[in-house]
Order: sequence, then structure tokens, then C-alpha cells
Amino acid sequence: MTGPITTNTFRTAIVPAAGLGTRFLPATKAVPKELLPVVDTPGIELVAGEAAEAGARRMVVVTSPDKQAVVDYFDSRPDLEEALEKKGKDALLEKVRRAPGLIDVDVAIQEEALGLGHAVAQAGPVLTDEDDAVAVLLPDDLVLPTGVLSKMAEARARYGGSVLCAFDIPKERISPYGVFDVSDTDDGDVKQVHGMVEKPAPEDAPSTYAAAGRYLLDRAIFDALDRIGPGSGGELQLTDAVALLIEEGHPVHVVVHRGGRHDLGNPGGFLRAAVDFALADDEYGPALRDWLKQRIENVD
Ligand code: G1P
Repeated sequence: MTGPITTNTFRTAIVPAAGLGTRFLPATKAVPKELLPVVDTPGIELVAGEAAEAGARRMVVVTSPDKQAVVDYFDSRPDLEEALEKKGKDALLEKVRRAPGLIDVDVAIQEEALGLGHAVAQAGPVLTDEDDAVAVLLPDDLVLPTGVLSKMAEARARYGGSVLCAFDIPKERISPYGVFDVSDTDDGDVKQVHGMVEKPAPEDAPSTYAAAGRYLLDRAIFDALDRIGPGSGGELQLTDAVALLIEEGHPVHVVVHRGGRHDLGNPGGFLRAAVDFALADDEYGPALRDWLKQRIENVD
């Protein structure tokens, strides 16, 4: 007898959250960027929810020694729960309990900001024998609607190797991203990747398909991360480790996500996300919509 076939090819999600949050200063002097609320929920809880929904059981938060608050956010607060219970504030109680109940949280410390590849590598020592593949979710990127990780797991089940999420981005805006050299498969939303380059000039970009913060990486990535040197910006780039695996014959595919995306990493993108989520919120949406309409009429 063989066991049940499952496309749930990962149980651990790695979330790099060690950055200084310089684009959000001065707020990030005291509050980690990942805890800033999109309406009332920190960005990191949204990402943890997405990972749990895709089947992850454990989230390894890679953070810096002074950002312990990001991990503490996932602890339960019996004192607060008791107070809310006594007051009969059931809806709030549910919200307070959600994060600790979502997923088990472990921490890995990145002592120095040496790049995304270096951050992911810090999670290597806490993996278990069961972790044949890991998901990596960048908490700056909200990929909407959620569900792309499950499609990526299906692609890994079909092709093996590693699967990343791609967005089709206009060429003139491609430079801040890792960009894929791709060819088509029989599925319009899945492409085979032949190379990957971090932050190319538009004229050097191999395509308009850019990495957008969701990765399903075979465990072989950790060995590749040990073998790369500094790349774009002098940092150890996850992109370069993926490119090295491709050179060595490891299958890499992308799932092209045709939905929306918010960049929580800067105030402009964060505000859009907050407005988008607030408009969809039963409590705040209707009044915000009316106010925005009026307010926009008065914009020069
Ligand atoms: C990182 C990755 C890049 C990816 C981007 C997605 O860049 O290095 O390949 O396209 O995230 O948001 P960063 O935004 O950290 O410079």
C-alpha cells in the first residue's frame, strides 16, 4: 500500500523580517515594520495566515536581535484574553487569539543585514528531516488573492525542484526585482526558468517576469546559499543561489500570478494596502468609501 498522494510539499515557511525598515522611519525607531497594522492586523499576521492556509505548520521568522517583538506577537496573552472574556468582547477575543493559533513560530537570528540569501540561510539549522522543501514568504509583499503557494506546490509535485511566484511587470519598472529567463510549458500560468538575475537594468532584463516574494524552494537551496558570493548591492542574494541551482540542472519553474499585489515595504504601498483592506471591511468600508469619494472630489 502506498500512502495518500499529497501536493502539500512543505510544512515550514521562512519569513525574513530582519530589515531596519528605513523607509518607515521614524515609526520603525520603536515599532518593527512587520507589526504596522493593515487596518488592525499586522502585515506579518497576514503572511502567517497565508502560509498556514497553504498547509505550513511552522513559521521560522528570521529577525534581528532587537526585533523580538515580531516573534512575541505570536505568543498568547492570557491576561488580555481574560479581560476581554469578562467584558463579553467576543469578536475582539477571537482577533487576539488568531495569531497564536495560526501556526507554530520559531525564530532564527540574523546578526548582520547581509542580504536576503543570507537571511534565508539562517533558517537552515532549525529545519528538520521532514523539510524536503521550504516556502519563503517576504512579508513586504502581499500577493492577492491568496492561494498562489498551493499552485506552486502543485507545480513542484509535477516538475520537482523549486517553484517561484512571478508577476508580469512593465519593462520600465522591472529594475527593483529578480527577473526570470523563461520558456512556456503546456500550462499558460507555469513557465520553466532557465536563468535568474537580480535587479537588472531594463535593457538587460531577460523577460518581464519578476520574482514577487513567494518561493517554494527545494532544500538544495541551503547548499547553494553556502556557495554564493556577494551579488547585487554587495549582498548575498537568494536570486544568485536560485541561478546557481539552475546552472547545475535543478528544475526551476514559476507560477505567474495574475492577481493583485501590495508592497508593504514603503509608506505609499502600505497606504494603498490599508485602503484596499479597509474598503473591504464590513465595519470601516462603507464610511471610508463615502469619505474618500468626497475627499477625492476636493483634490486639485
Ligand atoms: C527582493 C528579491 C527580489 C524580488 C523582490 C520582490 O528584493 O531580492 O529578487 O524580486 O524582493 O519584492 P528587495 O525588494 O528586498 O530589494
